[in-house]
Amino acid sequence: MKPSECESSSANLFYVTTPIFYVNDTPHLGHAYTTVAGDVLSRWHRQRGERVLYLTGTDEHGQKIMRAAESKGVTPQEWCDTLVNESWKPLWQHLEIANDDFIRTTQARHTVRVQEFVQDLYDKEQIYKGSYEGPYCVGCEEYKLPGELLDGGAEFAGQKLCPVHKRPVEILSEDNYFFKLSEFGGKLLAHYEANPDFIQPESARNEVVNFVRQGLQDLSISRSTFNWGITVPWDEKHVIYVWVDALLNYATAAGYNEDPEKFEATFPADVHLVGKDILRFHAVIWPAMLMAQGLPLPGRIFGHGWLMVGGEKMSKSNLTGIKPQDLTSHFGVDAYRWYFLRAITFGQDGSFSWEDFSARYTSELANDYGNLASRVAAMIGKYFDGTLPAATADGAAEKAIHDSLLKAVATADSRMGDKLDFQGGILAVFDFIKQVNGYISEQEPWNVAKDKSEEGTARLATILYTAAESLRAVAVLLNAVMPESSQKLWDSLGAEASLGALADQHVQEAATWGQLPTGATVTKGAALFPRLDDSAQA
Ligand code: MSP
Repeated sequence: MKPSECESSSANLFYVTTPIFYVNDTPHLGHAYTTVAGDVLSRWHRQRGERVLYLTGTDEHGQKIMRAAESKGVTPQEWCDTLVNESWKPLWQHLEIANDDFIRTTQARHTVRVQEFVQDLYDKEQIYKGSYEGPYCVGCEEYKLPGELLDGGAEFAGQKLCPVHKRPVEILSEDNYFFKLSEFGGKLLAHYEANPDFIQPESARNEVVNFVRQGLQDLSISRSTFNWGITVPWDEKHVIYVWVDALLNYATAAGYNEDPEKFEATFPADVHLVGKDILRFHAVIWPAMLMAQGLPLPGRIFGHGWLMVGGEKMSKSNLTGIKPQDLTSHFGVDAYRWYFLRAITFGQDGSFSWEDFSARYTSELANDYGNLASRVAAMIGKYFDGTLPAATADGAAEKAIHDSLLKAVATADSRMGDKLDFQGGILAVFDFIKQVNGYISEQEPWNVAKDKSEEGTARLATILYTAAESLRAVAVLLNAVMPESSQKLWDSLGAEASLGALADQHVQEAATWGQLPTGATVTKGAALFPRLDDSAQA
């Protein structure tokens, strides 16, 4: 739902962001990981009935982009336009990402705001002119401290390497403008202390606290040796440092200096999702920039882990050739969205393996979940002509299912919506699915069906109603993660006619029993998760 379509304009929005991605190249599995997680979080909050602003976008200035464009013989703007329109936006559409806005740092709505913000800091004497010489990694777009560099071996023998990119740093020497970051160490530490959830998970928080305790240096916020960036308003020989430009996207999209009402309702973000490599920018520099302006700080910065390949962070150079589309064409988009959140604890590193994906798809999606949905629909078709019968003979077994559902909903809601423990949230729903499978195996409706007495029919009706109503709740709870299959299930249960659109079902109420009306038309559609064609394995 777009914010503009919401009923109330006064309530605050739940504001979630991904990092804005460098468009030096096409998106890969690592970028999609964050973007799917943000999408699941924001869909979950929409299904709590909240108004949400889910923001993603692209980071288009700086040397890294400029060099990528130069190497292809096009202008940086042409390069960005092509990649955004032909690779980034189409991938997000393909992965069913329901972002409310897509910001590009080359848009005028942004460049003007950045100039205003920086000018304001300059006027407040938070910025001064100085010079700097030090090692710089263009991959990170960051000056590095000598102590954090690695010694190069083999082809890079004798050179100092960036610890993230494992490539040689460049020694830069420039006249720059500096932001007085060093003055904010104490205030930042006080904020971390007073807001223990500001940086998550715990390991990320500790890393940042230790870093800030060592003392902060002032931050170079302009560059003068190239011009692909936003001009410093009071000195046109400089462009604004790409990270200052980029971080401000979160303010621009919330209406900073443009739409005070929107800004008030939206800013600051409730959650900034970031990879752990860019945690310091978000948990140190960004809050200090906001403090310097007297603006409120974000609710939470969550540093997730990396998708790894061969023990290294997955990147363009070590992708082993697997693109998100290679996985979705084999496993489907829903399974793709589900797999990474299911298999990897959010906040920790995790490795991707085709075999693991395949095994989990078959056992959890196709067997546990898909078979349950198709068996229940088939039995309602066979024994009740596809009309949902009434449950009139509830007993202890049914009570146990109601109780399990209550627990599943509470756990899923707190894990998925509050703790960002997507794995825990998904598991809570799949544990419930297992319970429903166990219930059906124990109740043996196919044997009960042989008993044609009134009592036997009532029992059969109760079992099948219980199973169908459980699936109704599962569709609601899995919609944020797997919207396409959840909709199929919703359709197969004939739920839309009486309950309305799936996306409008509130997750907190998913355990309220008896929502699916007796008499609903249940149809057995195509399998939710068809068997995999393993001959197609990459
Ligand atoms: N442009 C900056 C972000 C500016 S936000 C104000 C940037 N861009 S990036 O494209 O290099 O990276 C964006 C995000 O992708 C980061 O959060 C990074 O951690 C994430 N990932 C890149 N490779 C990744 C993996 N292999 N695994 C998980 N996430 C990874 O940094």
